Amino acid sequence: MKMLIKNIRGLVSCYEQAPSLLKGSELAGLPILEDAWLAIEEGRIADFGSMADWPGINDWRDLEVYDATGAYLAPGYIDSHTHMVHAGSRESEFVDRINGLTYAEIAERGGGILNSAAKLADTPEEVLFEEAHNRMRRAMAAGTLAFEIKSGYGLTLEAELKMLRVIDRLKRTLAVPLKATFLGAHAIPMRFKGDAQAYVNEIIHTMLPAIADEKLADFIDVFCETGYFSVEQTCQIVEAGARYNLPAKVHINQFTTLDGVKPLCDLGVLSLDHLEVLSPDDLEALKNSNTLPVALPGCSFFLGIPYTPARLMIDAGLPLVLATDYNPGSAPSWNMNTVQSLACTQMHLSPSEAFNASTLNAAAAMQIEGEVGCIAPGYTANLMLTESIPSFDFLPYSFGDNNIAKVMVAGQWL
Ligand code: NIG
Ligand code: FE
Repeated sequence: MKMLIKNIRGLVSCYEQAPSLLKGSELAGLPILEDAWLAIEEGRIADFGSMADWPGINDWRDLEVYDATGAYLAPGYIDSHTHMVHAGSRESEFVDRINGLTYAEIAERGGGILNSAAKLADTPEEVLFEEAHNRMRRAMAAGTLAFEIKSGYGLTLEAELKMLRVIDRLKRTLAVPLKATFLGAHAIPMRFKGDAQAYVNEIIHTMLPAIADEKLADFIDVFCETGYFSVEQTCQIVEAGARYNLPAKVHINQFTTLDGVKPLCDLGVLSLDHLEVLSPDDLEALKNSNTLPVALPGCSFFLGIPYTPARLMIDAGLPLVLATDYNPGSAPSWNMNTVQSLACTQMHLSPSEAFNASTLNAAAAMQIEGEVGCIAPGYTANLMLTESIPSFDFLPYSFGDNNIAKVMVAGQWL
């Protein structure tokens, strides 16, 4: 099936030869071809050009033509950090926080991640699947067309496998790129209270081999934080993951800096996520590495904690990535349009920087660069079409609104 989209007001992030990553000042450049056409064949971008050079076509059979007058056509967002699979919700903790408790105090009382783990243990796989599927369909309609999803609300082998099997079924059900991350080290379960190392040993020697055996994970993750897992334990888990060919994406520096950024960069982790607290040494370590820094502004907004110094990172030449961190505790929004607005208003990014960090660079954080993340010949046609809007900067400007009219997955309108 061939499709020709014509009269596109602006074809966003289009390249003849796409870069695999944008660093520092390169993030400010967002190529937009005005008054354009785009050809799609077999679900992939075939060609594009200016309407002034509308292609002369001899054979119009089997060719669908779509008129996009007034709209921008752009690559879909890529959400490289989510906890899409979870049981129930935690709005009672939200109210507790409004009444003065901190995220840490709620966790100490058995709330937080342990609260979600208790709920998940009692929730059938089918319900987990249906709920995650519903929220992902809504996220897709709002423009997100690739997802990473973490386990981490299981905390036992059985429940972690349950979560990862749900993620595996989502992979087979939704046509968008989807990656699974094993986050057994998300919190210390009650049964290991006072002996986190024993749980780390269980993760390394029992959980990881079983999960790798079923090929249920693409990446490995750890919550490296005071009261959770130490830098040393994080490194142990990252190295164990590497023995199973699982690249690491690590939660780090959300509340405190433990000087873990450098040792993890030295281990060559794929991404370090959160980084709300960043020391000069941490920044230096990132500059001297190939590790991608992932900022999660929805989490800062929702918890009222500092925003990741994303402006500083870009000015230091880093290849910034943005994601939602969608989860029931610290960021219950899967909306990448909201992330754009927060990145612009709270982190002082330009709309173009925010969009590149949420698409092209985000693809690298999921190791799907070269496949999706921009519009280039051969790339999968995972695209979003805007409403009729005055400019592409209107997306983050009109915060809270949804200006995505429709989306296309592998050349098919959803
Ligand atoms: O990325 N920081 C650790 N994990 C999640 C929060 C998980 C939860 O509260 O359920 C995060 O913010
Ligand atoms: Fe997270």
